[in-house]
Amino acid sequence: MRTAILASGRGSNLEALIKASESGSLPIEIVAVGSDQLGAAALERAKEVGISTRVFPVGDYPHRQAQEEDLLIWMRENQVELLLLAGYMRVLGPKFLRQANFPVMNIHPSLLPAFPGLHAQRQALEYGVKVSGCTVHFVDEGLDSGPIILQEAVSVLPGDTEESLAQRILEVEHRLYPEAVRRFVSGKVERTGRRVQILQQEGLE
Ligand code: GRF
Repeated sequence: MRTAILASGRGSNLEALIKASESGSLPIEIVAVGSDQLGAAALERAKEVGISTRVFPVGDYPHRQAQEEDLLIWMRENQVELLLLAGYMRVLGPKFLRQANFPVMNIHPSLLPAFPGLHAQRQALEYGVKVSGCTVHFVDEGLDSGPIILQEAVSVLPGDTEESLAQRILEVEHRLYPEAVRRFVSGKVERTGRRVQILQQEGLE
């Protein structure tokens, strides 16, 4: 499945997806990596393994929609069949999502619908929850609000800082995102409205 990834920053999830795809455990072909940030480390990670990259700096466009139109043209040129957001720090607009003829997924570092948006780990600590985690979901027009594919819980420990909690969640993210994508590309993900079922060989999980 021809896959594009959008990332704004460090790119550790991008790296996990690249590794899974290179090892053969994830049957996708990552054909393009894009960013809204010129200096994103994620772009370097992609270049190192020979994946074509492109930057779409929002400041270069008169408005957000124009940037997203360019993104879409680039995805069509690359015959993209699946788009994965991996730390892409912008919300994709309704027009983009309507016109995209491929599914879009995202990973978020909380157990949605708790703590959507920025600084999810800080939100979790400030709220005082004992368990947080991460969520892989389809992208819809809202903020981290699309149908949930997979989630995994991570304990919040006494003395946790935003950084220590983020790191513990990140380790799970690196396993969960490739796993969710693997199930999707192998036809095991069935979506009915908001509800997503993961099919096992002998029925439902
Ligand atoms: C991750 O925590 C991800 O869940 C969130 O943004 C962060 C990206 O980290 N959407 P990285 O760039 O993949 O290292």
